[in-house]
Amino acid sequence: MKHLLKMMDLTTEEIIDILNLADQLKYELKHGIAHNHLQGKTLGMIFEKASTRTRVSFETGMYQLGGYPLFLSANEMQIGRGEPVEDTARVLSRYLDGIMIRTFKQEEVEKLAEYGSIPVINGLTDFCHPCQVLADLLTVREYKNKLDGLNMCYIGDGNNMANSLIVGCLKVGMNVSAACPEGYCPDNTVLEFAKSYDNFRLTNIPVEAAADADVLFTDVWASMGQEGEAEKRRIAFKGYQINDEIMSAAHGDAMVMHCLPAHREEEITAKVFEAHAGEIFDEAENRLHAQKAVMVKVMGK
Ligand code: CP
Ligand code: NVA
Repeated sequence: MKHLLKMMDLTTEEIIDILNLADQLKYELKHGIAHNHLQGKTLGMIFEKASTRTRVSFETGMYQLGGYPLFLSANEMQIGRGEPVEDTARVLSRYLDGIMIRTFKQEEVEKLAEYGSIPVINGLTDFCHPCQVLADLLTVREYKNKLDGLNMCYIGDGNNMANSLIVGCLKVGMNVSAACPEGYCPDNTVLEFAKSYDNFRLTNIPVEAAADADVLFTDVWASMGQEGEAEKRRIAFKGYQINDEIMSAAHGDAMVMHCLPAHREEEITAKVFEAHAGEIFDEAENRLHAQKAVMVKVMGK
């Protein structure tokens, strides 16, 4: 595995390998066992959007692996003043051992990988959020002791999270049902990919998608960069909420997951959120363990 650009690039075996390594690194961290797999290595972390979890988990994770993380705000780099990503890639490859980037366009991440000579990790684009989905799969596996055959339901915007969840969950053998309003469906490339699976269903009736779910996911109605559409989206997404009605359609022991940040009473009620806060914050913690595994896979020996 050379980079982590999107879930579609990973094989099922690579996903499971990452999850297994993440479990091991988590165990070692909790038991004080050193795991300096990236001793002496440096990771540049370029952020063109805000972040709490991604920034702190990558930075801490790199430190725990014996490496050194550099936080690079795009606004303070020449890339923020128009220096081409092709040049940025070739320059950074001369200094660093790896790059994590959070940006708008997926093409920027792909170009960084194409022109650079070091591993690139996608820390979220408008198209996808693979690091989050690896942490999500790790969390579901911890709670349910398996992935294959579980019923997963996504309710909300067909955004970066939906795109990565659909691909990731299908690849590990889950049955996927997504409910998105008209005009807010997942990306066409994702729908094209999902077409070849007979265990994928797309609807615009949330309670239908939630039927017999083992795990329910949602995400914000307006993502970073869409703040100007928030009002219009509040209207379009009305009813696309994880609430008591949705939970009663799911299995009694269904998990609820949210990548965070969450908007209570929009995509999820405060009541459901708090009832499932244990899982949701385990999910947030697992960003650290899953990403350490990704960094070791792409930057380690
Ligand atoms: N879930 C997630 O990526 O959070 P941040 O935006 O805080 O990094
Ligand atoms: N869809 C959200 C995810 C945040 C982690 C966004 O892109 O803002």
